[in-house]
Amino acid sequence: MERNDLCWCGSGKKYKKCHMQMEEKLAILADEGHIVPTRDMIKTPAQIEEIRKSAALNTAVLDHVAAHIHAGMSTEEIDHLVYDYTVSHGGIPAPLGYEGFPKSVCTSINNEICHGIPDESIILQEGDIVNVDVSTILNGYFSDASRMFCIGETSERARRLVQTVAECVELGLKEAKPWNHLGDIADAINSHAKANGYSVVEDIGGHGIGLEFHEEPFVSYVTEKGTEMVLVPGMMFTIEPMINEGGPDFFVDEDNGWTIYTEDDGLSAQIEYMVLITEDGAEVLTK
Ligand code: MF3
Ligand code: CO
Repeated sequence: MERNDLCWCGSGKKYKKCHMQMEEKLAILADEGHIVPTRDMIKTPAQIEEIRKSAALNTAVLDHVAAHIHAGMSTEEIDHLVYDYTVSHGGIPAPLGYEGFPKSVCTSINNEICHGIPDESIILQEGDIVNVDVSTILNGYFSDASRMFCIGETSERARRLVQTVAECVELGLKEAKPWNHLGDIADAINSHAKANGYSVVEDIGGHGIGLEFHEEPFVSYVTEKGTEMVLVPGMMFTIEPMINEGGPDFFVDEDNGWTIYTEDDGLSAQIEYMVLITEDGAEVLTK
């Protein structure tokens, strides 16, 4: 691309007035051995506009769940809330049929780390902590976020875990800004979890998102400050740490092939934000 060409991002500006400086800086960082994003990890203004709409619907679905979740309901009912609301607003639940996933949402209770499958026989009990992970496709664009819900009166022990994961995500978000590294986000999250006596799940992490459900980069929450990919405006990914009160080890449900449980049966909590790196920080698109 020449300096006076129109920029590849479709902004209508000349390359030299648009992404040229950023790409020159990335080339230097790459030479120095840093991991840098490729162009396909940087969303264009037109894509961002569309993905924002998907993300807004995703937040509305989560709000709808928040308004109706209660002790005594089945996770199947949560699935219906998500399916009906999404479809009636022109969207498609992204999990449905994704690599064979049978439902529209993930509902993960207590010792389930993630990928819990809604079922008529699973009834929310007073004292449960449940992660509801909602992902939406609108006009072909993807969004993804999850919240923790405390059902009725929850134990102090459970509340503290949920409170801590909420703090972890916020601390991670503060590190999500141009020219920081993904490892800066991870370190902020991991340090806070550890300081509270918790562990962060390794191997399962966040992901780029927008044009696909799961894009590059993989986002770990256990890597070191100053390592992993450099962040630049236009990148979009999820911050979704899974925090365990016990050890970080897990196993996968043998029967359904999806649900991931803590190895030691301890509680696990997760909160997921989907963020866009902006000129001076990050914007939360859905949470
Ligand atoms: N929403 C999950 C994530 O944050 C992905 C779930 S995949 C599914 O990456 F198929 F289980 F829905
Ligand atoms: Co998700």
